[in-house]
Amino acid sequence: MGEALGGLLQPGDVVALFGELGSGKTMLVRGIAAGLGCPRGDVHSPSFTLINEYVARPGGGGDLPARVAHVDLYRIRSEDELPGIGWDEVLHSRHVVAVEWAERALRWLPPDHLRVTLETLEGNGRRLRAQATGPRSVQLALGWVEAAGLEAKAS
Ligand SMILES: Nc1ncnc2c1ncn2[C@@H]1O[C@H](COP(=O)(O)OP(=O)(O)OP(=O)(O)O)[C@@H](O)[C@H]1O
Ligand SMILES: [Mg+2]
Repeated sequence: MGEALGGLLQPGDVVALFGELGSGKTMLVRGIAAGLGCPRGDVHSPSFTLINEYVARPGGGGDLPARVAHVDLYRIRSEDELPGIGWDEVLHSRHVVAVEWAERALRWLPPDHLRVTLETLEGNGRRLRAQATGPRSVQLALGWVEAAGLEAKAS
């Protein structure tokens, strides 16, 4: 699922991840990074830094290699800390941005971002819900549904 989304993401896109501990947020970021051509093995929860950067392997096309900013707000104490950890730089630097624990910094998210909520089901399955907040994220959500071979439900 993550890889299908990663294949659609462009610099400046923001994916906000919601879901309890262990619901699969980091694993989804691993897929997103892979879909953008970054090595899966690079992806680990940013713990001390709060933001990790992954760069795609060179090769293919004349485009600059994709860069992913992986933000994890689990350890943030207050929303006010966000500007201090490099958030503004990341938003303005043509990264694809994926944010774990996005509910901890809702007011700093750009108006148009894709919201993905993960839930753990009985028997180790996961439910994933995607919600758009503007025209670009609508495009992403619909593209993702198509790329993953699913059906969209209006709500
Ligand atoms: N789609 C999935 N299906 C089955 N197991 C999964 C899935 N996604 C993640 N897991 C498993 O759940 C565990 C936690 O995953 P992950 O670290 O991605 O969660 P997280 O939401 O990032 O957790 P945290 O809140 O601690 O950051 C891992 O052991 C992983 O293998
Ligand atoms: Mg995580």
